[in-house]
Amino acid sequence: MKGIVFSEFIELVEDKFGIEIADTIIEKSNLPNQGAYTQVGTYDHKEMLTLVTHLSKETGIEVPVLVQAFGEHLLDRFTQMYPQFFTEVNSCFAFLDTIENKVHVEVKKLYPDAELPTFDSSIHSDSHMELLYQSKRPFSALAYGLILGSAKYYGEQISVEMEDMSTDNQTRVCFQLRKEAVNTLE
Ligand code: HEM
Repeated sequence: MKGIVFSEFIELVEDKFGIEIADTIIEKSNLPNQGAYTQVGTYDHKEMLTLVTHLSKETGIEVPVLVQAFGEHLLDRFTQMYPQFFTEVNSCFAFLDTIENKVHVEVKKLYPDAELPTFDSSIHSDSHMELLYQSKRPFSALAYGLILGSAKYYGEQISVEMEDMSTDNQTRVCFQLRKEAVNTLE
């Protein structure tokens, strides 16, 4: 996993829970690099799972809730770092439809060793989209947060249902996205 993801995570922990908690989880995670990540470096994704597990122990907040919140934050950061991906399309479904064939393709050009998931997307109607997440890594909760962050960015009310289709810990997960009807009579 790229260092940029780790540095964003540690910054978020420092902001929300304080530097002491950030230091504690880094120490307890017993990391080979003591928590010093460079943006372009590549690190074992298991280090992220270890950090989140320790954060969960320190804060009493469940791991998926923390990972999802991180996804929402990361999306917000991506809107600042890569605004062009967001301004080229004008709805949440249209944006999510570009992840597989555009956004992550560009990410791969930028970081050839990036480990990315795949997304099969189907827009069934203006109000219903399906996204199938598949990865060798169990980061569907991160995808969930990134999807919620995208809906927020476009100012849309979207409910997201998650169905685990895998037998090995959330590596194949189907998301059903439903856009809430806008009351035009108001
Ligand atoms: C402009 C928007 C986006 C950018 C720039 C971006 C970039 C990245 C980068 C740099 C990584 C790390 C790769 C690595 O560590 O090797 C990543 C991983 C990931 N991305 Fe994206 N991404 C974007 C949007 C999204 C969205 C909207 C979703 C969800 C629908 C998504 C789902 C994921 C997931 C789940 C991973 C973790 C790796 C895995 O599950 O295997 N990304 N992305």
